[in-house]
Amino acid sequence: MNTILAVLTGFLTLGLVMTATAADSPLFLDASQPREARVEDLLGRLTLEEKVALLHADSKFSASAVPRLGIPRRWMSDGPHGVREEIGPDDWKPAGRTDDFSTCMPCGIALGATWDPDLARKEGEAIGQEARARGKHIMLGPGLNLQRTPLCGRNFEYMGEDPFLTSRMAVGYIVGEQSQGVASCAKHFAVNNQETERTSVSVELDERALRELYLPAFQAAVKDAGVLAVMGAYNRLRGQYCCENDYLLNRILKGEWGFQGLVVSDWNGVHHTAEAALNGLDLEMGTDQPYHGFYLADAYLEGLRDGTYPMAGLDDKVRRNLRVMFATHMFDPGPKGSLNTPEHQATARHVAEEAMVLLKNDNNLLPLDESTLKSVAVIGANATELQAYGGNSSGIKALYEITPLQGILNRVGGKVTVTYAKGYGGINALALAGQAVQAARQAEVVIFVAGLGHAKGQDTEDSDRKDLKLPDGQDELIARVSEANPKMVVVMVSGSPVEMPWLSKAPAVLQAWYSGTEGGNALAGILFGDVNPSGKLPCTFPKRLEDTPVAVLGEYPGKGGVVHYTEGLMVGYRYYDTKKVEPLFPFGHGLSYTHFTYSNFHVAEGAPATVQFDLSNRGSRAGAEVAQVYIHQVQPSLPRPLQELKGFRKISLAPGATQTVSIPLEIGAFSYYDPAKGGWLAEKGQFEIRVGSSSRDIRWSGKFTLEH
Ligand code: GLC
Repeated sequence: MNTILAVLTGFLTLGLVMTATAADSPLFLDASQPREARVEDLLGRLTLEEKVALLHADSKFSASAVPRLGIPRRWMSDGPHGVREEIGPDDWKPAGRTDDFSTCMPCGIALGATWDPDLARKEGEAIGQEARARGKHIMLGPGLNLQRTPLCGRNFEYMGEDPFLTSRMAVGYIVGEQSQGVASCAKHFAVNNQETERTSVSVELDERALRELYLPAFQAAVKDAGVLAVMGAYNRLRGQYCCENDYLLNRILKGEWGFQGLVVSDWNGVHHTAEAALNGLDLEMGTDQPYHGFYLADAYLEGLRDGTYPMAGLDDKVRRNLRVMFATHMFDPGPKGSLNTPEHQATARHVAEEAMVLLKNDNNLLPLDESTLKSVAVIGANATELQAYGGNSSGIKALYEITPLQGILNRVGGKVTVTYAKGYGGINALALAGQAVQAARQAEVVIFVAGLGHAKGQDTEDSDRKDLKLPDGQDELIARVSEANPKMVVVMVSGSPVEMPWLSKAPAVLQAWYSGTEGGNALAGILFGDVNPSGKLPCTFPKRLEDTPVAVLGEYPGKGGVVHYTEGLMVGYRYYDTKKVEPLFPFGHGLSYTHFTYSNFHVAEGAPATVQFDLSNRGSRAGAEVAQVYIHQVQPSLPRPLQELKGFRKISLAPGATQTVSIPLEIGAFSYYDPAKGGWLAEKGQFEIRVGSSSRDIRWSGKFTLEH
């Protein structure tokens, strides 16, 4: 009897304790509660000082905790290509840890060159898993700024010159990354298209260019991907800093688009307490002050106390921060993530394989046949240069990085005689060049690995390029090497277009980008035919700098601290196609080791239109084609570019296979922004729907009348 009584008493006590505990445990800790209810509950528990503490950094990459309520510190990390090494805590010096190696994905423009949103999602997932494993809550990427000029030092981080392509790739990446319980951060909002005077230049541009070119990728991030954070840019828009810009942050981002997440500043991008308080900033990072001296710290607290700033505005900021905290599992376990796994490395390789663009392949020099090939000379500093760590904030301390030379040795070393000559770079250029020419002469085939790097004035943050030329005398050397051995493949390791005065002397050219941890293996796979290249250019390669729209119509880098985007909508192929300027290689261009035909086109009703066609692989190799759909309006009331990308599909086909492709075109595909109306307008009337393998390789054009 006593035993039964004891057991019953125990259960009763346990029940009482649990009830009491449940009653004591605050609602915001209950993960089964709706997020907004948890936000309101926690908001109501915070003091004024605690609320303000949540709105600014307490180290280089963290925001304050509130220990009294069990709110932990929030950790942020760059960047778009993977999880950056540990920095700080209170300066920009690397922390010198040994547990912060990570997987380096190919750079942003390489991801753009895949034209594969599903692969972008896989990349986002992998980076999100590594972020979780490294204890990060907010990842500072993707970079969504448009390539307005090929000179911009950060073009390598972004996804090219077209807003529709960037939008689709951004949505894939963000959905993938946030699916892992990490907040993505769309950056840099907005019109941050040059590094020259980046922290002060004021951009002046017409509303159509802003709305039709520079904002859509951010709009897609918010409305299609539900991005949880947006980073204000350093520069000014129409005179007001983007991190404290009423029009951008309050009117457009939060007003028109209904953004519910948080706006974080770029590091040291905030300049005034009043503007930061009232114009939509929610989290201040990196200000060159002690943390209590941040604009949203003591000064803001004082202004709240004396009634200068409304408490409602404070609560809105806090709600946005709390929303992101709950979304990133700061009060419940959440996914534990994983770091440097074979799966992540395989994803990095897959992205690199799909990103490389075969620009030229005369006489099918590629792929090389290892069964008959006796010797190959690999030439160029970029064949051995490590790139992952460079470029400033997007640099990654990679667990390893396979260089082009290493990839080629991994693939054919021992079967083919591989010689290497640096060829260029450094002090003894002449001796180097001579050795390279000699090596070329003695080999059956030459693989010349050319390109840029992350040095100042090349592909890096905080500086722009001065021209589109290859440095270190590469142009001359490529020409000399081709004289010594015409069977030369040029592999371009770069993050933005370069001029190619030697192009007629190079039978094959492959744009390899900065292709991350597995880049060398991906390159070798393409060179030796294990992988059929399927990348397409996400930006135009102009013949020369003088041909570019910014050089002809625009203003760059501006004067007196102001840059006018006088080219308007004439950016990239929109310019080259409208003004009939011949590029070196057009937007959307990319060859394959097989060939595809398009047939049986028709436009079906619905969406309001759906273009359908058959795509066939007529070659002997499996491969993937990116079919592109461009819209031309016959007689618009306002000037429009000749054509605009409004749909694409990447289709993999076995040899001989045919697939019917349907690409819906929603009303937005026909619309332009009408400043007089203050909104988007799809005018009734005649359109042409164009389907092609690139912007200049149009396979079909059909008339379509928009009725309503
Ligand atoms: C840098 C970059 C931004 C980066 C941030 C933190 O200046 O502009 O992209 O996320 O500061 O490193």
